[in-house]
Amino acid sequence: MDPDSQKRAAAAAALEFVQPGMRVGLGTGSTARHFVELLGERVAGGLDVVGVPTSEVTRSDAERLGIPLTTLDAAPELDVTVDGADEIGPEPDLVLIKGGGGALLQEKIVAAATKRMVVIADQSKLVQVLGRFPLPIEVMPFGLAATRRAIEAAVAALGSPGPAILRRGKDGHAFVTDGGHWIVDAALERIADPVSVANALAAIPGVVEHGLFIGLAQTIVLAGPNGVRVIERA
Ligand code: A5P
Repeated sequence: MDPDSQKRAAAAAALEFVQPGMRVGLGTGSTARHFVELLGERVAGGLDVVGVPTSEVTRSDAERLGIPLTTLDAAPELDVTVDGADEIGPEPDLVLIKGGGGALLQEKIVAAATKRMVVIADQSKLVQVLGRFPLPIEVMPFGLAATRRAIEAAVAALGSPGPAILRRGKDGHAFVTDGGHWIVDAALERIADPVSVANALAAIPGVVEHGLFIGLAQTIVLAGPNGVRVIERA
């Protein structure tokens, strides 16, 4: 199975966590898009669910597929959210790096409002040590240079090299998130202590949110060439 088929297999397996009547958080990214497509097929077949999208891209996909949508204001607690990840750390913590697609803030708000976050991925996303994937950090455009400097100092104090690079779109301008913020990608290389990194970043005023998801993923649905396996956080 090629990686895209593995993503689709994980997405298909995650459908078992969706029951009639559920409020479902809809993730963002190439793996989550498979799930949204498959959920759309189920909805077309009569499944009664309501979705909360984690990005404008996912909103548009879900609308096109006819999935009824609501907001976290109308439904502040969701039953299940199905989303992808850029890296999945080892058991027992199953810490995630997310935000490669730029939707980390809304993804984290939705995940935190959900009883069960199900992460779908091909098996290449499971790592022994987090950090090879640069950590996406959503920042205020105001004071970017000062915020970058503070991020680099914070991660250097924790033994990571930095640097924190402003993400740019295809047009060369800063990539703008759905929340109107920018993203810097920090080359941490090895995150030995995710909680310390998360706390240090959260203490920087210009940081809106970071892509470390700690204590949020409950279930991992991982697809590989030999099939799908499910990991539950203890
Ligand atoms: C979106 O911002 C991200 O958090 C995605 O969930 C993550 O980047 C995984 O994306 P893929 O499924 O495309 O690898």
